[in-house]
Amino acid sequence: MIQFPQARYRLLEQPTPLAPLARLEKRLGRSGLFIKRDDHMPIALGGNKLRSLEFWLGAALEENADVLLVAGAPVSNQCRLTAAAAAIAGLDCLIVHNDAETDQTRRSSFLNRVFGAEVRFVGAMCEDTRAVRIEEIAQELRSAGRRPYIVGSAVVGALGYAVAAAELLSQSEASGYPIRHVILPGSMGPTEAGFIFGNALLGNPFDVHLVSVEYGQADLAARIARIFGELQHYTGKPDVKLDDGRVHYHMDYLGPGYALPTTVGENAILTLARTEGILLEHTYTAKPFAAFMDMAMDGSIEQAEGLCFLHTGGVPTLFVQNELFETI
Ligand SMILES: Cc1ncc(COP(=O)(O)O)c(C=O)c1O
Repeated sequence: MIQFPQARYRLLEQPTPLAPLARLEKRLGRSGLFIKRDDHMPIALGGNKLRSLEFWLGAALEENADVLLVAGAPVSNQCRLTAAAAAIAGLDCLIVHNDAETDQTRRSSFLNRVFGAEVRFVGAMCEDTRAVRIEEIAQELRSAGRRPYIVGSAVVGALGYAVAAAELLSQSEASGYPIRHVILPGSMGPTEAGFIFGNALLGNPFDVHLVSVEYGQADLAARIARIFGELQHYTGKPDVKLDDGRVHYHMDYLGPGYALPTTVGENAILTLARTEGILLEHTYTAKPFAAFMDMAMDGSIEQAEGLCFLHTGGVPTLFVQNELFETI
């Protein structure tokens, strides 16, 4: 087991399921296809940010914080899961949405209120301006005698996925599933960099395939390298090196851009739903799963080298994506 000198507040007692995609294998006429179900967690409909929240909460509680402060779009998975994690840890939660308050955006943010968070809409703004705004709100809270912790440090959040790499390796060894290739979305970077760092700590048992859902390759690679460097420093492990040869970038699935649907993404959603009964959504998981199916079929990976889709969750977003579908 990988351990770090950073407090961890346990939200997940059990590993998430690792399962063969038996019906999809039959449909595609090949074997060696697996799914790691980080969409399948017992809290708030699950998702990758719960692993990060174990470390963000650990840091917040170490600082004796009494309120978690988090920013994101109304549909943000990070906001929803922070609201739930705060409720579990007995902390308050203030969510700041960088969007206008409308019926639609209030509906998209509904689950945050279910989990008891206070929600503030501050109008549309870019991420840099939002970061400044959050700092101002944190200052206001401090002046009112509160002790806010701003959720989102990339390096702290990334620790969750270093742990996930170790979890996947021990599961694949225990089950005898020969997993060599792992596919996940390439986005802001903490999940990916954490997994790649964990993989490096373990001696690189996996080839890591990042399917970009947000940035161009140079930007994405720079994000990974920066967070990886921060992890070396933060964990006191400068000798753990980023092996570029084990990280593969897949840039052909982004389509018109972040959160915008593609035809192959829609096909991926419908295929997985209709073979395995598992949901994906357009923003984070449909495009990587489209890449997964292509890799399964294009002969680039030996059947003996298992191919695993790391499902990072985000499924609740599907409920506001109905208008993005063309064929149903
Ligand atoms: C479901 C889901 N998958 C993947 C990601 C990307 O993770 P990261 O920001 O660590 O790159 C996110 C980010 O919010 C997400 O919600």
